[in-house]
Amino acid sequence: QLSQRDQLYEILAVTAKFFEHALHQSQGAIALDYLRTKRKLSPEIVQQFQLGYAPGGWQTLYGYLVEQKRYPVEQVEQAGLLVPRQGGSGYYDRFRDRLMIPICDVQGRVIGFGGRALGDEQPKYLNSPEGDLFDKGKTLYGLDLAKGAIAKRDEAIVVEGYFDVIALHAAGITNVVASMGTALTQGQIKQLLRYTESKRIIFNFDDDKAGQKAADRAIGELADLAYRGEVQVRILNLPEGKDPDEFLKAHSPSAYQDLLQDAPLWLDWQIQKLLANKDLSQPDQFHASTQAIAQLLGSLPNATLRTHYIHRCAELLSRGNARLAVQLEQDL
Ligand code: UTP
Ligand code: MN
Ligand code: MN
Ligand code: MN
Ligand code: MN
Repeated sequence: QLSQRDQLYEILAVTAKFFEHALHQSQGAIALDYLRTKRKLSPEIVQQFQLGYAPGGWQTLYGYLVEQKRYPVEQVEQAGLLVPRQGGSGYYDRFRDRLMIPICDVQGRVIGFGGRALGDEQPKYLNSPEGDLFDKGKTLYGLDLAKGAIAKRDEAIVVEGYFDVIALHAAGITNVVASMGTALTQGQIKQLLRYTESKRIIFNFDDDKAGQKAADRAIGELADLAYRGEVQVRILNLPEGKDPDEFLKAHSPSAYQDLLQDAPLWLDWQIQKLLANKDLSQPDQFHASTQAIAQLLGSLPNATLRTHYIHRCAELLSRGNARLAVQLEQDL
């Protein structure tokens, strides 16, 4: 007799197989074509990520799991796969006519799904609801496939999206996980840091408003550790407003590796960002920038490092004015 949790694991594993199978039948042709032509993914990658297709009817999965396989309907609902009908009785499939991406735990067990619309339907991604197995705040997409490479390279790349992870794998860069678009939690960070001995993380979020916000919040979560030098955080912003998947469609994997190599440390990135588009010849902007930088550097507990940054910022803020630079080194 399986425990309640084991039953849910089984239902989700069987469902992933069902979706995978459907992708390679005639009903899944549109989804398979999408993966090949729009996403340029090889059959090997499609298989490695267990990508699938949820058929379009209202009770296709229901028919398979409940009527054919005789899983209790309450459990299939608990697995997040069915939605109860409003005001009536019965259930319908949560995922219909979507490209299905299984979300796995660290051990590679399916705990949920992300379902991508094949056209412009909303939402673009429909995800499994949180439940007994799926806790979004504790899950990093792709960690099961990335943990070995993270340990080996002693560094983890964090991206936003499912397809960013998949595209990077296809490009041979496998030490990568996705936050799935939400703000990174302490639980996710803790889990990730288990696999890199030197605690090295690179954030490569989308170069859009949401991605900027995600980077700021991730830095906020890690700031204490980073100030103390207990983690090494770097930020990679890709040019032309692209996410890693889009970047790799236009550029080679080695172009990505080069940018990764040069990704600035978070503090340098913060300083760059603070000074971007500032007219330091304007007294008010100069003053605000000086104060913001003083605040940023004031929390650095390591005196040597603080001196280093104060010196650099004094040079940046003084723009070649030697007397001002000396004054700033005292004030910062
Ligand atoms: P993005 O909007 O950047 O999507 O959201 P994407 O991954 O680049 O999508 P594609 O390339 O158009 O397919 C980043 C991540 O945020 C989550 C998903 O995990 C997505 O991969 N997200 C986004 C959702 O959960 N729901 C949404 O409707 C949108
Ligand atoms: Mn898996
Ligand atoms: Mn985005
Ligand atoms: Mn994106
Ligand atoms: Mn994308």
